[in-house]
Amino acid sequence: MTVNVLFVCLGNICRSPTAHGLFQYHVDQAGLTNNIHVDSAGTGAWHAGNPPDDRAQSSALEKGYDIGGLRARQVTAADFKKYDYILAMDKQNLIDLRVMCPTGYHGVLALFLEAAGLKEMLEVPDPYYGGQEHFEHVIQLVERGAENLLARIQKEHTF
Ligand code: 4NP
Repeated sequence: MTVNVLFVCLGNICRSPTAHGLFQYHVDQAGLTNNIHVDSAGTGAWHAGNPPDDRAQSSALEKGYDIGGLRARQVTAADFKKYDYILAMDKQNLIDLRVMCPTGYHGVLALFLEAAGLKEMLEVPDPYYGGQEHFEHVIQLVERGAENLLARIQKEHTF
């Protein structure tokens, strides 16, 4: 079986591609590349087709993750048919996703860090108007979230 995981932020050029790339790395390391499909999207369309923000790419690269091949896209109605986990970076992203969410959606629609069981932070703060340190904070949160989320998904599914 395949479990489908979608990370969502506003622009899909900073936080959600970071989560996408880091989670994909952990999935691959765990030998689950064919079992867990990973993607990311934005609630907004302004950056559709664009690679991740240079600052997001460089802070990821500094930690050994190459997210430069990812391209932004907007969330679509079809995502609610495909994805078992739709994980929002912040509360506004979650509100926007709930508006789009069809009744009867059976997957997990939640804040990423909450779904990952991180106790001290619920949101990955938007780094777009911040400095490089805001992007480094994103990496730190996402790294821990990605590891915890993979452990949760492995508990919830037999591959
Ligand atoms: P993201 O960051 O949602 O983490 O990709 C942002 C990217 C772009 C904008 C805002 C946040 N923007 O306003 O264009």
